[in-house]
Amino acid sequence: MSKYEVLKQSRFSLAPLTNLQSHEDGTLSEEEYNWLVSRAQGGFDLTISCASHVSKDGQGWPGELACYDDKFTPGLKRLADGIQKAGSHGILQIFHGGAFADPTLVGTPMSSSAGWNGNEREATLDELDQLVVDFGQAARRAQQAGWSGVEIHGANGYILSQFLGTISNQRKDLYGGSLENRFRLLNRVVESVKAAVDESFIVGVRLSPEDGFRRKVGIVLEDSLQVIAGFKDLGVDYIHISAWDVFKKPNEYPHHEKTLMEILKEAMAPRTFLMAAGGIWTKEDAEKAFSLGIDILALGKAAIVNPSWVQEVYNHGKEPQKLPVSESLLRDVHVSQKFADYLRNFPEFVK
Ligand SMILES: Cc1cc2nc3c(=O)[nH]c(=O)nc-3n(C[C@H](O)[C@H](O)[C@H](O)COP(=O)(O)O)c2cc1C
Repeated sequence: MSKYEVLKQSRFSLAPLTNLQSHEDGTLSEEEYNWLVSRAQGGFDLTISCASHVSKDGQGWPGELACYDDKFTPGLKRLADGIQKAGSHGILQIFHGGAFADPTLVGTPMSSSAGWNGNEREATLDELDQLVVDFGQAARRAQQAGWSGVEIHGANGYILSQFLGTISNQRKDLYGGSLENRFRLLNRVVESVKAAVDESFIVGVRLSPEDGFRRKVGIVLEDSLQVIAGFKDLGVDYIHISAWDVFKKPNEYPHHEKTLMEILKEAMAPRTFLMAAGGIWTKEDAEKAFSLGIDILALGKAAIVNPSWVQEVYNHGKEPQKLPVSESLLRDVHVSQKFADYLRNFPEFVK
């Protein structure tokens, strides 16, 4: 099946979910394997991994699955095989945390500019060249390990967002100022990834089209529409919108007649797929979201507590388990103690 057909037939994806369950050295653990493979078995057409760091100094959290070296390939292969055997397509989410890399793991983190958020420093031009190479190498590893694709994480305030953002990017060189310059790093990353894999391999990009509720980097909708238009020439197969609420109106135009997703869909090239995540719990939510033009729905929180959401809730009309949930329920759905502790950061998740 061509990648176009794979995406065309896909309706649901597991959203990328950081779960802290891999080993301290970034190699795959049994817990991370069981967590993802059980969602693949539950009927998700695509199974996206947690954000996985492409450079050692991009690590966001302890216990994060790594992809910055060939030594991680055997674990990545085992995971891709497990997902594939379950009948799903594995997509590795590749990222660098930038200013939000964990300083206890990486030292002073690098970012677009220094000091806009904390004590991050400005990345040098050589470091940016290396980062572009690192993204490409991570994609090459993912393909060699048998993943169906990669998702370049340009959302949620991490390094690629930091370059796009007008608050986080105060650079005076070729990577700062105009949108063309702020887009340069993401543009080069996509080119590097495309050059490192063959045409059969899916390349998606995740974007936050406006600032989210947590990290303010200065992303505005007008810029995002141009970025999306810019992907037309880069051969991006899908654009994954991180919105937290797929039904929302744009922040800047709360009374717009169209929803944010409808506006974004109009800016996209015809053969590019729109994936989006945010607030899908029931079959009715999913049908309503598809009617906005979203091609593939990604589920995060609902898929954590309903591993077989597609089979049970969407296909068989079962009532979904809602939040909050007990720790014992989480254990039953392959959420280990470390992940359960992390979920306590999200309001009303764990009883
Ligand atoms: C525990 C947790 C971890 C997350 N980790 C990631 C991540 O690694 N990469 C990413 O792009 N988004 C991440 N997200 C955002 C989700 O992919 C998703 O966009 C968000 O949860 C909204 O969808 P939902 O309402 O279905 O949960 C995370 C969200 C949660 C709750």
